[in-house]
Order: sequence, then structure tokens, then C-alpha cells
Amino acid sequence: MATHYPSAETRSSIINPMIIDLRSDTVTQPSDAMRQIMADAKVGDDVYGDDPNVNALEHETAELLGKQAGLFLPSGTMSNLAGVLAHCQRGEEVVVGDKYHISCDEAAGVAVLGSVAMHTLQTDGFGRFDLEQLNAAVKPNDYHCPMTRLLCLENTVGGCIQDQDHIDTLVDCAKSHGLATHMDGARLINAAVAQNLPPARLVQSIDTVSLCLSKGLGVPLGSVLVGSSVVIERARRLRKMLGGGMRQAGIIAAAGRYALQHNMDRLAQDHKRTQKLATALEGLQGLHFDRARVQTNMLFLQSPQMPDLANYLAQRGIAITAIGENSRIVLHMQIDDAALQQITEAIQGFFHE
Ligand SMILES: Cc1ncc(COP(=O)(O)O)c(C=O)c1O
Repeated sequence: MATHYPSAETRSSIINPMIIDLRSDTVTQPSDAMRQIMADAKVGDDVYGDDPNVNALEHETAELLGKQAGLFLPSGTMSNLAGVLAHCQRGEEVVVGDKYHISCDEAAGVAVLGSVAMHTLQTDGFGRFDLEQLNAAVKPNDYHCPMTRLLCLENTVGGCIQDQDHIDTLVDCAKSHGLATHMDGARLINAAVAQNLPPARLVQSIDTVSLCLSKGLGVPLGSVLVGSSVVIERARRLRKMLGGGMRQAGIIAAAGRYALQHNMDRLAQDHKRTQKLATALEGLQGLHFDRARVQTNMLFLQSPQMPDLANYLAQRGIAITAIGENSRIVLHMQIDDAALQQITEAIQGFFHE
């Protein structure tokens, strides 16, 4: 069974010699400036609420996203889980896109740990489902049915920016059915930067938002869940229950604060380089991709020769995710213009050989 990740045996041999890692933007390394901020960070015990950098990060992220309160968690997965469980009780149901991270890549945590059912809606190549699907998914108030409690959205989905009017329409519809709303905004800042909109505008109608610091923003780990003070207090208890209460977490939170100040606008460079790469690869015989889906920092390639291409690139120090004929390439802050040129030449070289 193919997975996103290399097996344990191949992991060390793949990763160590790699110079250019395009598997994900989670592979980003903290910069020297970020490491210095971490080394100098004032810390306290965050489970006691004493860590000044965690408190500040939670406050600053809530402000950035236009919400009352924030909660720092070790991962996006735990942030989504705490967010969903802060809205739902056992036996209730969330409506979520079938390709979203919550339904595909979080080991069914909401079902396993929260006894919350997932009703997945088929999404198109851009990560969208429509209003009719949502309306049809909401169960009647009938004791045979799970209670539909929450709508989960995601932005970006596979690098695609979700249309703001459409999100607002879906949220209005969810609210008309009495549902709460949660946004997996792991890469929300990519969507905001690409549209030149304030991040708060993208989530103004959403109840809770999970923002990852560990993707394109370049922090080693961590996510912040934001929402109303009441919901975030429920999530704080859940974080403790899930084992996510951290102690001198300010070392990481300080990196998160640095990223919010210095690493948001630069995502535009990743987007620009992704477009440049797409332009360079267009028209190569044997390689296909949907140019319309190249919207932020991801490129999804198809080729019957994909396994050979992945090996060819690996021999040249370039790592990509390849599953069967499909590959995902993700650009991030470690991919500068020189690296981009190396990647472009290597892929062109393979198809011209
Ligand atoms: C869209 C999305 N949501 C959530 C997550 C989970 O983040 P983490 O790996 O920090 O658990 C990821 C991770 O790649 C993601 O891509």
C-alpha cells in the first residue's frame, strides 16, 4: 500500500543525502535568526499559564485571525482534534470534505478518541463541495440519526485557495442548520497572501480555526487554535486530556511569534517560484499537470514514468513525494532561485533524455 511517507528502512537513506527536499513544506529548517530568538526566549510553565511567549503567541494569533482567544498545541492534528471535540459530543457528526486532512490524514482521531462520526462530502479537484451536498448531508432531528453538529472546512486544499464567497455561503448555510464551523487553516496564510487579503477576512464567519506554524511559516512544530474564549477554554481541557499540555513551550512559541512577524509575506516568493516551475515544466512530453490547480506552493504532477523520475531526481539530491504515477512537489523557504533552477533542469533533463 503506497503512503505519503518513505518506509523506516528507506527513510534514513533518502533523507540524509538530500539537498533539495520538495516532499512538503513541513521539512523547513529554522533560520539562524529564529534559532537565536528561541535560545533567548523567556519561558515559564505553560500548564500553569506562566509562559510569557506562549501567552503572547496565543494572543497575537487570535488577533491576527480576528478571534477572542488562542491555544498553542504541539501539532495541527491535535489542534484539529481539540477543535472538533470542543464543538462535538459523543455520537454527534461532523461534515467534512473527503480529501481534507481531518478525514484522510489524522488516523480518524475524531472518531477513535471522540466517538464523533465523519460524514464526508466528495470534493472536486480544487477541494470544493457545493451547497446542495452540504444541505443534503445535514441529518434531520430524528432519534435514528447522529446529530449533525459541525462543518469542517480547509484552506488551502492541496494548494488550492478556497473561493471566499463560496466559503461564506457554506458557512451561512451551516449556521442556518444550527451547525458550528471549524477551519483547518494549516496553510491559511498562503491563501491570505496569495489573495492579498487579511487572514482575519478569510475566517471572519468561522467559529474555530487551526493555524499551523510548522508548514511554510518555518517553525519546527506547533499550531494555534483560535475561537471564542468559551470554546478555547473547552479546547484547553481537551489539550490536557490528549497529553498536549507543554511546559517551557515558550522556546517554540517564540519561534512562532518570530514567524508571524517575519515569515508570512515571504510566502509570496514560494508562490512565485511555484508558478515559475509550472511554466518551465509545461509542455514536457510525458508529464502532465493541471495548471489551474497551481495556486500557491504546490504542484501535482502525473507521469507514467513517475517512479523513474523520482529515482532520477533522488540521484541528483532532489526528494519528491511519488505515489504510483502521481507526485506532489511543495515549495518552501529552503527552495531559493538556485535550487529552483536545479530542480527545473533536472526534471527537464529527465524528459529530454
Ligand atoms: C491541511 C493540513 N492540516 C493539518 C495538518 C496536520 O499538521 P501536523 O503535521 O502538525 O499534525 C497538515 C499536515 O501536513 C495539513 O497538511
